[in-house]
Amino acid sequence: MRIAVFGDIHGNIDALGAAYRAAIERKTDRIYHLGDIGGYAPFVNEVAEFLAEHNIEGVQGNYDETVGKDKEHCGCRHENEMQAEMMGLGFNWTKKRATQKTKEYLLSLPFRITFTCEDVNIALFHATPTKNNLYWTEDRDNGFFLRMAAKADADVMVYGHTHKPYRKDIGGKVFINAGSVGKPRDGDSRACIVLLEIKGRTVASEFLRLPYDVERVASAIVKNGLPGYFADMLREGR
Ligand SMILES: [Fe+2]
Repeated sequence: MRIAVFGDIHGNIDALGAAYRAAIERKTDRIYHLGDIGGYAPFVNEVAEFLAEHNIEGVQGNYDETVGKDKEHCGCRHENEMQAEMMGLGFNWTKKRATQKTKEYLLSLPFRITFTCEDVNIALFHATPTKNNLYWTEDRDNGFFLRMAAKADADVMVYGHTHKPYRKDIGGKVFINAGSVGKPRDGDSRACIVLLEIKGRTVASEFLRLPYDVERVASAIVKNGLPGYFADMLREGR
């Protein structure tokens, strides 16, 4: 069984197109997404429509919950006051742009998806098995990873939220951060997806980096009145 997982698309329809084409080319049996449909890039409605039209199941991210429920804040972390202001502008813009149909889609997403594939139990969620806005970075200690595995009650966990891909194998469990399709933060501006190939209890994984027209999306960010800061972040993969 071959599975593609798309993390954090964030309104970037061009990156999503590249991700989808790669998943089809690699003959995946299933595709899932990890939430955070809007924000940063302008195509929140287009991304929601694409996922629904292509029957790509997925989970709800913090950004989906807060846009869908019209909350005050997106639940994202910021590093300084300037970033906090930019994020606030982007969040308010996205809440305004998202149609009722998009908001219904965002609110329809489950917190987590679990299934058995061959001989392993897989859990997909946005950030952690119990909180959608906690940053599960690679440098957390093994104890944290194993506590999360116990909460997820799964052999393989795939999640996003930090926008930085990694895989760790600890105590027979597989932990995969799928990275971000539409807003990578690891210094590589290309879209990131992960492919899983599962045979029996063996889980092979491969991160793909996919080029697309970053400049087109960067200029759409500015043209749509979103902060130019987001365009620069996209160009630089940060
Ligand atoms: Fe995100």
